[in-house]
Amino acid sequence: MGGIRMKSLILAAAAVVGFGTAALAQDNYPVRQVTMIVPFAAGGPTDVVARIVGDHMSKTLGQQIVVENVAGAGGTTGITRGAQAAPDGYTIMMGHMGTHGAAPALYANLKYDPAKDFAPIGLAAGTPILIVAKKDFPAPDLKGFIAYVKANEAKINMAHAGVGSVSHSTGVLLNAQLGIKPAMIAYRGTGPALNDLMANSVDYMADQIVNVAPQIAAGTIKAYAIATPERSPALPNVPTTKEAGLPDYQVSAWNAVFAPKGTPAPIVAKLSAALDKALDDENTRKRLLELGGVIPDKAGRTPAALQTLVESEVARWNPILKGMGEK
Ligand code: MLT
Repeated sequence: MGGIRMKSLILAAAAVVGFGTAALAQDNYPVRQVTMIVPFAAGGPTDVVARIVGDHMSKTLGQQIVVENVAGAGGTTGITRGAQAAPDGYTIMMGHMGTHGAAPALYANLKYDPAKDFAPIGLAAGTPILIVAKKDFPAPDLKGFIAYVKANEAKINMAHAGVGSVSHSTGVLLNAQLGIKPAMIAYRGTGPALNDLMANSVDYMADQIVNVAPQIAAGTIKAYAIATPERSPALPNVPTTKEAGLPDYQVSAWNAVFAPKGTPAPIVAKLSAALDKALDDENTRKRLLELGGVIPDKAGRTPAALQTLVESEVARWNPILKGMGEK
């Protein structure tokens, strides 16, 4: 009896110590740098938003948030790696409307469920979509662009960041509305895609404002319209699709922070609070707004609000994109 009792006491003590160790780890979190996976190449919109909010989150958390660019398969490669990371708060990821909205409709064997395999942290920025083209594109306005692409479907090409990315899904939506199927040129992110657009070596794309706003302002690429009901304060001279003659093309993307499913609630709360503080910080807001980002209100930043958004986006994009993805 004594031996079993002693063993039970030792096991109970170990459990208390174990529980205490886990609670201590959560209380002290973070004690080392945090990796934020960006599932696209450096320099694109997802990377830009991640680095802007990550800069301020690092200050609040007292540890550096280090961006790791893991590109491929429209962002699903990096997000799969993030979903499978240890749920200890030391690996988070910047997802978006593509990876956590469109991807399930386009990847029959997607290795994660956007609505089940993550601990949502919060929405970082809304990112309106623009129809942009190389500077030499032979059309003066959106109506001219539409006429040209319809008449020259076999000669034109559209850039995107991989099947399931924001630029791919919003580009496919645009092409479906125009009734065209141009050649599609895939990149590891719309950072590299934009370089080719600026070099006049790819024709057009649908991309997030935070990526293209500086180049539109600099006149190195053409912007035919923004696909939101109102013009962006960051690009007051770019007409809306409604003004420019394609009222049905209404689409905006978003970028949001996720942790792996099972990340302890106190750690999720610390990360969410750090993101919230970043979005209240004057300099962080200025950097996002200058690029045309839309800063979510307080209610829109919570983990619960992000979970609701993901569920609604997966439901929204499924009927639009089903069957248009990888074979
Ligand atoms: C996308 O198209 O999903 C993103 O713009 C890609 C990127 O962030 O580079």
